[in-house]
Amino acid sequence: MGVINVEKSGRLEGVVQIGGSKNAVLPLLASTLLTDEPCVLGGVPALKDVDIMCRLLECFGAEVTEDRLAAQIRIHAKNIKTNIAPPDLVKAMRASIVAMGPLVARTGSVGVSLPGGCAIGERPIDLHIKGFRSLGAFVECEESEDGGGFVKAEAGRLVGAEIYLDFASVGATENIMMAAVLADGTTIIENPAQEPEIVDLANFLNKMGAKIRGAGTDVIRIEGVEKLHGAEHTVIPDRIEAATFMLAAAITGSNILVDNMLPNHVVPVIAKLRETGVYVREAFGGIEVDATRGMLKATDIKTLPYPGFPTDVQPQFMAFLTVVEGRSNIIETVFENRFMHIGELNKMNAGIVDNGRHALVPGGASLKGAKVRATDLRAGAALILAGLAAEGLTTVSDIYHVDRGYEGLTEKLSKLGARIRRSES
Ligand code: EPZ
Repeated sequence: MGVINVEKSGRLEGVVQIGGSKNAVLPLLASTLLTDEPCVLGGVPALKDVDIMCRLLECFGAEVTEDRLAAQIRIHAKNIKTNIAPPDLVKAMRASIVAMGPLVARTGSVGVSLPGGCAIGERPIDLHIKGFRSLGAFVECEESEDGGGFVKAEAGRLVGAEIYLDFASVGATENIMMAAVLADGTTIIENPAQEPEIVDLANFLNKMGAKIRGAGTDVIRIEGVEKLHGAEHTVIPDRIEAATFMLAAAITGSNILVDNMLPNHVVPVIAKLRETGVYVREAFGGIEVDATRGMLKATDIKTLPYPGFPTDVQPQFMAFLTVVEGRSNIIETVFENRFMHIGELNKMNAGIVDNGRHALVPGGASLKGAKVRATDLRAGAALILAGLAAEGLTTVSDIYHVDRGYEGLTEKLSKLGARIRRSES
């Protein structure tokens, strides 16, 4: 199992290029099951989760051709040979669940084993099931003690419906949208997720011939069509990767350019960095982050569904707040257990108080290098950022989490001047 070694790195400098969005490309890949014609996705990041989704599409019968050099993937789901998702792949990546919508819409049935809970929360799928049932599918769900189990959905042609989401779930919105595009009649999703990844999926589906309006707002309207055709699409940049590098600049007191990203996708992160005194300027197609202009100060964070502050940036922002002067309060409202990184940061002398959904960051910490463990993808990124500012060596283990969601994180940080390297020990 590899580790990432990080040492105090002083000021970073230069330009970092942001890759395609993990959380956009996974549902985009799943949506190609909706047509028997070939689709081409560009700007695809080289991530473990993308590999797993491609294997999953092949298991369903799709022909997948990857051109890594061009960051392009061609998917042709001409025939679906099975509707049952292999349990090992679903266990490896819970986002596999978004294959349900396309498969039940295209073939009338799907069976997926449930991976159960994970480090950050129980991850139920009750809203996904509510959506499929509203569209006329018969859904059976056998839960096991660990929250795992098996879910099966069967339907003739789905029928448009009005669906209210009790929580603006990203995955449920994606699954319902992909199921509804081939339904008979109109589907209205109220209180949907409004993340940019939802908009990117709707844009691709509309290129395929779907009729979706309102993605990115609080009501999505879908007119069902008979059939979808193939299409080409370039994945939006990864706003969470961009935010991670913005915070790398902040925690090291650096001035860098985060390029090839969309500033309007990280508005809450820009706002919160400005509240701490970091200078942020929107440059063409990117963002200049300048944390060299004097004393930084604390601020409070509350995570919310988009356009609120993103939960996927909470660990990284917490790492930054440990070193600025003053107390910060962080409230995590999206996942029930997304403070696993507090214990690891406290091994580095962060002194954070974990009150369940509320964390109190005293600030002004002199972080010390330590042996720490990535408990999930974004916690791993947060520990690497903390290592950039900590005296001595920080060794981050369980870095397979990091490889799932970041393409070349250590290489990109190293190019900015970070003292970081992987070792396979
Ligand atoms: C997506 O997960 C992202 N993953 C997550 O990113 C992200 O943190 C999350 O959205 C929130 O923005 C991908 O897109 C692959 P949710 P998802 O359904 O769809 C509850 C990362 O680090 N809920 O919006 O699983 C659920 O328990 C990952 O890149 C229900 O109660 O998130 C959670 O508390 C981590 N019932 C909340 O909603 C349901 O049926 C948010 O979950 C579904 C969800």
